[in-house]
Amino acid sequence: MGLMKLLKSYGLIIKKRGLKIIFKHIFLKPYAMLIKLLPFYPLRVLLLKVAGAKIHLSAYIQEVNLMGMDVGSFKNLVVGENVHLGEECLIDLYDKVYLEKDSVISPKAILLTHQSVGVWSPMAKYYPEKKLPLTIKEGAWIGAGAILLFGVTIGKMSVVAAGSVVVKDVPPYTVVAGNPAKVIKKLKKK
Ligand SMILES: CC(C)(COP(=O)(O)OP(=O)(O)OC[C@H]1O[C@@H](n2cnc3c(N)ncnc32)[C@H](O)[C@@H]1OP(=O)(O)O)[C@@H](O)C(=O)NCCC(=O)NCCS
Repeated sequence: MGLMKLLKSYGLIIKKRGLKIIFKHIFLKPYAMLIKLLPFYPLRVLLLKVAGAKIHLSAYIQEVNLMGMDVGSFKNLVVGENVHLGEECLIDLYDKVYLEKDSVISPKAILLTHQSVGVWSPMAKYYPEKKLPLTIKEGAWIGAGAILLFGVTIGKMSVVAAGSVVVKDVPPYTVVAGNPAKVIKKLKKK
């Protein structure tokens, strides 16, 4: 029974996304795991580049978790100069993720670009699949464990406090905190 359900699920996925999704499942996830396990960050940058990410050579990429490359693409990752991506961040590549220059993503932050409950789920009638790009503007800082929902833009030189859940855009030079994240202060331009 379990096997039948699995085959049915795969049947639905193939119908929706085409056969190549299976090959992407098989090859891209191990590739992403290899990127994570590499002991030296320039090698991570190199492998991301080879896979199609647009990434500046100065980016400091720690042991990152990547998802969504099968439906999306490694090409959806766009990383600027001096970006710092911390340990165990989860980056969803269903849609574009723009990390502009000098932005810092602290450990375990989650950057989402889609919502999908799975093609077989009855919940899909209420929450159909959606995807939207996510942007972190120049110099912004995302605190550890923050969750950014799909479609949000974090403004230039803004801060998302640790553990916050960002559900809407954050203006420039603004600090937000909490769930849902609310403005706690404005930063003076220096
Ligand atoms: C956002 C942050 C930078 C705020 O620093 P700050 O400007 O000095 O702000 P304050 O500490 O004065 O806090 C201002 C208010 O926000 C609240 N606040 C701060 N951080 C918060 C958080 N993560 N969640 C909810 N509320 C928070 C404070 O309790 C305070 O509330 P109050 O005015 O009611 O007392 C800091 O709290 C933070 O989250 N840093 C991220 C740390 C991190 O991720 N490190 C990873 C290694 S790089």
